[in-house]
Amino acid sequence: MRVLVTGGAGYIGSHTVLQLLKSGHEVSVIDNFSNSSPESLRRVVELAGTGVNIANIDLLDEGRMQGELLRFRPEAVIHFAGLKAVGESVAQPLKYYRNNVAGTLNLLDAMDAAECRTLVFSSSATVYGESTELPLLESTPRSATNPYGRTKLHIEEMLEELAASDERWSIANLRYFNPVGAHESGMIGEDPQGIPNNLMPYVSQVAIGKRDAVQVFGNDYGTADGTGVRDYIHVLDLAAGHLAALDYLADSNGVNVWNLGTGSGSSVLEVIDAFARVSGRPVPYRITDRRPGDVAESYAHPEKARLDLGWKAERGLEQMVEDMWHWQEKNPDGFPDLDSNKLDPQELRNFVLGNSGEKKRPKKP
Ligand code: NAD
Ligand code: UFG
Repeated sequence: MRVLVTGGAGYIGSHTVLQLLKSGHEVSVIDNFSNSSPESLRRVVELAGTGVNIANIDLLDEGRMQGELLRFRPEAVIHFAGLKAVGESVAQPLKYYRNNVAGTLNLLDAMDAAECRTLVFSSSATVYGESTELPLLESTPRSATNPYGRTKLHIEEMLEELAASDERWSIANLRYFNPVGAHESGMIGEDPQGIPNNLMPYVSQVAIGKRDAVQVFGNDYGTADGTGVRDYIHVLDLAAGHLAALDYLADSNGVNVWNLGTGSGSSVLEVIDAFARVSGRPVPYRITDRRPGDVAESYAHPEKARLDLGWKAERGLEQMVEDMWHWQEKNPDGFPDLDSNKLDPQELRNFVLGNSGEKKRPKKP
């Protein structure tokens, strides 16, 4: 199938592009590299042994978006591109509405023009807001506690209205829980810019010695050890969920919603312990105040995805931490510097050929 992937150079996107290529799909990526490096895709091509088309396009560039969709003529789109930092969204809400909501509108217009109406959208468990009904079901009422979460909620609603207005649309809203881990090769993984916002990448940087200690945001929650509990899911399991959703959409229409989580939670202290064990390094931590907006516990009811898609998460916390640590050790500073590594589109085409191409990127001397 011809699959267009927006945000395909990013963390979840790069792992999904790799699985798409390995499953024989023809892939074209749209990314503006605002939070990623083309190096991730060069490594994906190396791992897959086959090429990918790359278009350095901003979702907000309506004209170029339409041009690319009309050129590639995808049969389906997986839409990862978006901004995702909760704190930044509170400080700069319009940036988030513009990039995430207006960007998605442009994508939908371009899809309509190219007569492609099959879409897998990266939603998030953040749409469950502060719900305390656990486990979280797809039918749990939605709400948002910050502008980032509200962009996901607005987009979900927009997609529901679109599908209700035209039955040719077939859409999956995938609600991810907490994606972590990396490809087992250690060649691709999460590469946060600056101070990581999320627990796992932070813990990983403490273990490697880049940061002094983990701040544990509260140990007075009503959980077993008092620290926050989350449903961590391996990025490779998450990527597999996208391929399963694509298969499902081929024979359906309307909007389908699936939680992608494991169904069980781990506490902050359990994550820190697992990292210290796997890495063999000390992971110092100190207890601080709760982080505003955090819920005590969040984990999925993952049955709907198992019944409809035949998908379930296979990897446990130990594997997630092992793979994340492998990536961290091999790439202590993440991918090479974004700016110096940014290639112009012509250069990229030479490195990364379309699927018909045989050549792979030249080896470094
Ligand atoms: P990421 O930042 O690594 O990847 C997003 C990619 O989109 C990046 O390569 C970025 O350069 C690109 N992008 C952003 N805005 C763009 C624009 N206007 N035009 C073109 N490209 C643009 O993030 P990720 O962790 O891979 O997340 C992917 C998606 O999953 C996002 O939509 C995110 O909101 C959602 N999600 C992520 C998590 C998580 O914890 N990682 C949880 C739930 C949902
Ligand atoms: N935590 C710490 N110290 C840190 C970072 C986090 O103690 O330095 C704690 C948090 O309080 C929470 C847990 O670790 O209890 C997980 O926090 P993350 O920031 O890693 O993840 P969240 O569940 O808060 O949020 C993430 C994404 C959201 C997304 C949500 C569900 O940041 O965008 O998962 O997918 F919506």
